Amino acid sequence: MEVSNELVLSMETKLQQTLQPKRYVHTLGVAYLSASLAMCHGVSHQDALIAGLLHDCAKNYPEDTMLSECLRLNLSLSEYEQKIPELIHAPYGAYLAQTEYGILQEDILLAVRNHTLGRPNMTPIEQIVYLADYLEPGRNHPTTPVLDELRKIAFQSLDEATYLVSKNSIHYFETTGKAADPMTYQVYEYYKEKLQKGE
Ligand SMILES: [Fe+2]
Ligand SMILES: [Fe+2]
Repeated sequence: MEVSNELVLSMETKLQQTLQPKRYVHTLGVAYLSASLAMCHGVSHQDALIAGLLHDCAKNYPEDTMLSECLRLNLSLSEYEQKIPELIHAPYGAYLAQTEYGILQEDILLAVRNHTLGRPNMTPIEQIVYLADYLEPGRNHPTTPVLDELRKIAFQSLDEATYLVSKNSIHYFETTGKAADPMTYQVYEYYKEKLQKGE
């Protein structure tokens, strides 16, 4: 999409008013890392910037409101998403990106929709926002000492980075005993096979 400085500024202003300061700084990190990854991987950096800016736009909404709104609007939610309220900002964020921020472009909305768990066979812009959410400069995962290595790999291969991020998430589930998310296993299997086939 055509992105002017005015549009970026108006979105940033609205997000700054809506989100907690820490979340806003994270949002800027995701937006500009998404734009940088896009430049490297032949994706529109303007689309990636907007998707990154909006990926957490629903984050301040009360979780029970988002859940009831998603159900009322008939937005598709997995069973796991319904059980883990903090994940609902992704589908609800895609809805807000459309209704509050005027984004109509399907791949940008999908990138917002799938930024938390990913999915098999993501489009490049979905992979970029999924990875940028995990790897933006402010992120520090104590369970992932290889984060800097992953940051490098994300600029070389989106598929390899997606595979490694899903692998790390599985390791996290298994070492902390947190409820495992079936989608992360699907993402892991899909990208593992894709890399093995050398596609
Ligand atoms: Fe998020
Ligand atoms: Fe995020």
